[in-house]
Amino acid sequence: MRIFLIGFMGSGKSTIGQALAEQLGFFFYDTDEMIEAAEERSIPEIFKTKSELYFREKEKETLHQTSNFEKSIIAVGGGTPCFFDNMDWMNDHGITFHLNMSPEGLKQRLENAAGNRPLLKNIDTDELLNFIALKLEERKHFYNLAHFNFNAEEPEDILLKQMKLAISKMTWH
Ligand code: S3P
Repeated sequence: MRIFLIGFMGSGKSTIGQALAEQLGFFFYDTDEMIEAAEERSIPEIFKTKSELYFREKEKETLHQTSNFEKSIIAVGGGTPCFFDNMDWMNDHGITFHLNMSPEGLKQRLENAAGNRPLLKNIDTDELLNFIALKLEERKHFYNLAHFNFNAEEPEDILLKQMKLAISKMTWH
């Protein structure tokens, strides 16, 4: 079984993914980290020294490397589902879990975490909510194609329970 965690920046994919993997005895992967390791530089550096397009191509290549991962929870970048045919690819190669959050909830989480996110680099604090709301609107269509949708504003233990319940139902069928 392979589960892809998708959702906007700041929706908690890595934190929830690691906790879920630990509780299930699964492996955890983060495609952003895989890209940084392969490129030997951080994502902001990749955007700066190469380009966003270069990053998006690496993102797709990295996603395809997960096709034979077993018993894995794979967190992908917030933009991954929205480029190329990545969303269909994930739906064909695993189960997709979307971590859904409101723009207000995301703003709170992202206010202090913009530094390592190139898309937020030039956004002032007073423009952040508006930026998130617009970007989310653009991306919603892709995120809504996920097999499962979870409210990521729930406390972590409730969210993990809901995810495990969804997984247990899958394995019984
Ligand atoms: C991006 C999200 C980031 C990272 C890159 C681009 C996006 O990942 O892939 O900065 O386009 O939303 P997180 O969602 O893990 O922050």
